[in-house]
Amino acid sequence: MKTSYSILIQLSMINLLAVLCLGQDFDFFYFVQQWPGSYCDTQQSCCYPKTGKPATDFGIHGLWPNYNDGSYPSNCDPDSPFDQSEISNLTSRMQKSWPSLACPSSDGMKFWSHEWEKHGTCSESVLDQHGYFKATLDLKNKVNLLQILKSSGIIPNGRFYSFNGITKAIKGATGYTPGIECNVDEAGNSQLYQIYLCVDTSGSDIIECPILPRGKCSSSIEFPSF
Ligand SMILES: *[C@@H]1O[C@H](CO)[C@@H](O)[C@H](O)[C@H]1NC(C)=O
Repeated sequence: MKTSYSILIQLSMINLLAVLCLGQDFDFFYFVQQWPGSYCDTQQSCCYPKTGKPATDFGIHGLWPNYNDGSYPSNCDPDSPFDQSEISNLTSRMQKSWPSLACPSSDGMKFWSHEWEKHGTCSESVLDQHGYFKATLDLKNKVNLLQILKSSGIIPNGRFYSFNGITKAIKGATGYTPGIECNVDEAGNSQLYQIYLCVDTSGSDIIECPILPRGKCSSSIEFPSF
């Protein structure tokens, strides 16, 4: 009895030390992609990037460190500001796969800077700035969500598709249950906004989600064109 208590205490101290020293204080990542048609089809609308209308494809929103209980760390290191020069050899891939649709039109730097400072700094023990953005871009290449949905007859044409059908298509193709988040268009219809996949702490492998985000979707969801 005495021994097991002391082992328990030792284990929790090791845990505490790991968190304090390595700072790897998160359990998994959410890899979040967004449908530009749904970002733009709202009361707030959107602005295309300075480089022009993005491709008709899901775009990256971010790679977010998360805890198994659903909460998440943010803004973990004020001493590690976004540095454009660190990602100069990724910029053209970022413009293509990680476009900003916020207004006013931008070159994306403000969006990427926000993502790094709010989320990326919380996984710095695993991925430095260049590594963080590269890992996220590489994840996008691993899973072609639009192709997966199209293969199941789920097409961005303004029609409505069942929530279960969308989930099933992605689970069938990737092996993992996605999180689906909806927003509403000007008429109040629920539409397919963001798709969440979970990724291990190395930022490279998709895993089953420890917890799915609550997504505010109706059972029938519009998939707007873009
Ligand atoms: C891209 O830039 C990063 C960080 O500056 C560097 O570590 C990496 O080697 C570069 N990669 C290539 C292919 O040039």
